[in-house]
Amino acid sequence: MSKSKKDLKFASITAQDIPAANEYVNPHAAPLYLSSTYVYESPEKAQEVFKGKAKAYIYSRWSHPNAELVERKIEQMESFGTKTTCKSLLFSSGMAAISALFQSLIKPGDSLIIQGNIYGTTVDYVNHAVEQFGLKVHYMDFARLDKIEAVLKKNKKVKLVYAETPSNPTINCYDLKALSSLSHKYKVKFAVDNTFASPYLQRPLESGADFVLHSSTKYLNGHGTGLSGVLTGGDVAFMEKNVWTIRKLHGSICSPFDAWMLNLGMKTLSLRMEQHCANAMAVAEWLQKHKAIAKVNYLGLSSHPDHALAKKQMKNFGGVVSFEMKKGYKAGEQLMKRLKFCKLTASLGTTDTLIQHPASMSHYFVPKAQREKFGITDGLVRLSVGIEDVGDIIGDMEQALR
Ligand SMILES: Cc1ncc(COP(=O)(O)O)c(C=O)c1O
Repeated sequence: MSKSKKDLKFASITAQDIPAANEYVNPHAAPLYLSSTYVYESPEKAQEVFKGKAKAYIYSRWSHPNAELVERKIEQMESFGTKTTCKSLLFSSGMAAISALFQSLIKPGDSLIIQGNIYGTTVDYVNHAVEQFGLKVHYMDFARLDKIEAVLKKNKKVKLVYAETPSNPTINCYDLKALSSLSHKYKVKFAVDNTFASPYLQRPLESGADFVLHSSTKYLNGHGTGLSGVLTGGDVAFMEKNVWTIRKLHGSICSPFDAWMLNLGMKTLSLRMEQHCANAMAVAEWLQKHKAIAKVNYLGLSSHPDHALAKKQMKNFGGVVSFEMKKGYKAGEQLMKRLKFCKLTASLGTTDTLIQHPASMSHYFVPKAQREKFGITDGLVRLSVGIEDVGDIIGDMEQALR
């Protein structure tokens, strides 16, 4: 019970909050809850909450309303059009979501099967975990189900098959249904990094995946304004107990402000993804005809070896294109120097067009031999096509490739 105004000293008035008068507060947009802790009306109520007998927020490292709002939305997106139930947990970054998945599933001495052509820091993380926890890691070509099956047959310690499709930065597409049933045949969990597609274009749980994750820093936020990651699992009890505990103990929950911005960004996801895809298709077609370009990787091009699979598995082909210059890295470097409208930066999935060089930027920490084995060559350039007027994007590429 607060004291009446006349009983309080000046410093007490300034130091305390005045509780919101709830009958007048009904905001249209979700408010931002910048509170580390939550207050209880009595010690009995606090005890019930801590014992899990009553539901209330406790401490923002455990959970908070801005994270939960986003989690409920992502659960609905990932299970859209199905009867599947799932549970999402929001993290401070995509890497925090990935490491929570690994740490909740894998023990020292276990084995993993991982796609070779994936995001550089995921490889860096796994390589560190190999040293620290004595894991055995099989980096593999996920188009070769026969080879994956051979490892699963031989190695009973494999706990996880981990895919990323479309892949960063080679833009390959892998068969989610086939990979899930193969993993499940050997009672191994199957997880998918769905960052490049977003739940608007592809929903791996529908294809049988056990886990789906995103760097929601990318398309889900869409504006490059904050860091976040989200992990969703079909086994609700495992998510609520094992993954939630890792998040609580590591303090890796997304901040209320980043979650609030993510929610704002997600409101336009469908519109943005449609425009990203339309613009990326136009840019890929234009690049394919350019005399300075040796090869364009975009799943929407009928010449792409994975085009038919992507057409079946995804609603559209995504917003990222990668390409190789005929004259190799030097020509790519010159292109990046000359661009005026497209921004040279390491991220992707924002409203504006971003270009980067994987070998020296996003995949710099992947050993060169490992990179090259999986197609991430020195000459590869990655373009995250934005939602600007496509004429301005192509115009900038045209003047830079002169
Ligand atoms: C495909 C993919 N997965 C995961 C991540 C890691 O996400 P974050 O940077 O939010 O930690 C990235 C980041 O670029 C990514 O591209």
